[in-house]
Amino acid sequence: VSQESQDVLNAYEWLTKLYHHLLRHTKEGKTGYQYLIDRGFTDEVIDTFQLGFSPNSKEFIVQFLEKKGFHPQTMVKAGLLSMNDQQEVSDRFRGRVVFPIRNHLGKTVGFGGRSINNQEPKYLNSPESELFHKGRLLYNFDLARSHIRKQEEAVLFEGYADVISAYAAGVTNGVATLGTAITEAQAKLLRRYVDTVVICYDADDAGVQASYKAAKVLKKAGCTVKVASMPNGMDPDEFVQQNGAERFRKEVVDVSDTYMSFLMRFLKKDYNLNLEGDRIQYVESVLDEVALIDRPVEREHYLKELANEFELSMDTLTQEIMARRQKIG
Ligand code: CTP
Ligand code: MN
Ligand code: MN
Ligand code: MN
Ligand code: MN
Repeated sequence: VSQESQDVLNAYEWLTKLYHHLLRHTKEGKTGYQYLIDRGFTDEVIDTFQLGFSPNSKEFIVQFLEKKGFHPQTMVKAGLLSMNDQQEVSDRFRGRVVFPIRNHLGKTVGFGGRSINNQEPKYLNSPESELFHKGRLLYNFDLARSHIRKQEEAVLFEGYADVISAYAAGVTNGVATLGTAITEAQAKLLRRYVDTVVICYDADDAGVQASYKAAKVLKKAGCTVKVASMPNGMDPDEFVQQNGAERFRKEVVDVSDTYMSFLMRFLKKDYNLNLEGDRIQYVESVLDEVALIDRPVEREHYLKELANEFELSMDTLTQEIMARRQKIG
């Protein structure tokens, strides 16, 4: 790493400690602390994830960084400080609860700052930099990695809060992308450690749509994909805070859908199965997916399901699959 990157890493380390200290032990951090406590985060969790608070002051963090000898220019470039038109610098995360984002070595390489007063945007993240590639990092991968190995399963969440609540409740194999759709690089990273990935996104339209996309990307990387679902509108953090870890495991993670059952349910949304034309189109779209499955046993399983549900013969369906597989090659 360059000297500049080293400086940035050091600044991130100092700031992680400072934000955390301010949140835990000072009156400047009280509003942030209270916000997290009200959300159900315990002191232990706050410490494990080094959650912090950036005081709502223009100078506080700037002065701290200056005193430590960091160059404002470097800090601006790293996205730690922001600069206005008058060339004045201020802390990018001021007034926000800060979630340090650690790389696989446990070093902070970025922050996610959450507003605590409904200010938009809800989350403000560090910008891309030499050290911080959002498309290659997974939140909490450093802590989750050994658990992922041991449990032979990873759980993929949407948000920091989901990962943290789940972790606190004993679901220690959870990671999240950093506010973006999962990339091929992130899927490959997971695949190096584990076969099965359970997608556990928010139970809203955006979450279901994103689950579909994530399922495709993970599948392409060679993962066995499962998709969990929750009561409408909830996210995993809310579920865990309301219902506890045991119910989260039993009612969400352990009963997640297989890739194909999720897909079939997902594709169904677009059709009115009372209409003949829609029924045919739906069956065809499912056949497109079944044709991509490599194991014959698995293919047959889903064909039987289709045959039963739509009163079609296995012969017809098998022919359709063969035609499709020939095209794929
Ligand atoms: N996100 C973001 N910028 C936003 C909104 C969301 O980067 N303006 C990212 C964050 O990483 C967030 C994730 O997308 O954790 C999921 O978004 P959302 O479900 O809206 O947030 P939650 O994780 O549920 O956050 P909270 O519980 O704190 O409201
Ligand atoms: Mn502490
Ligand atoms: Mn969401
Ligand atoms: Mn959410
Ligand atoms: Mn949430």
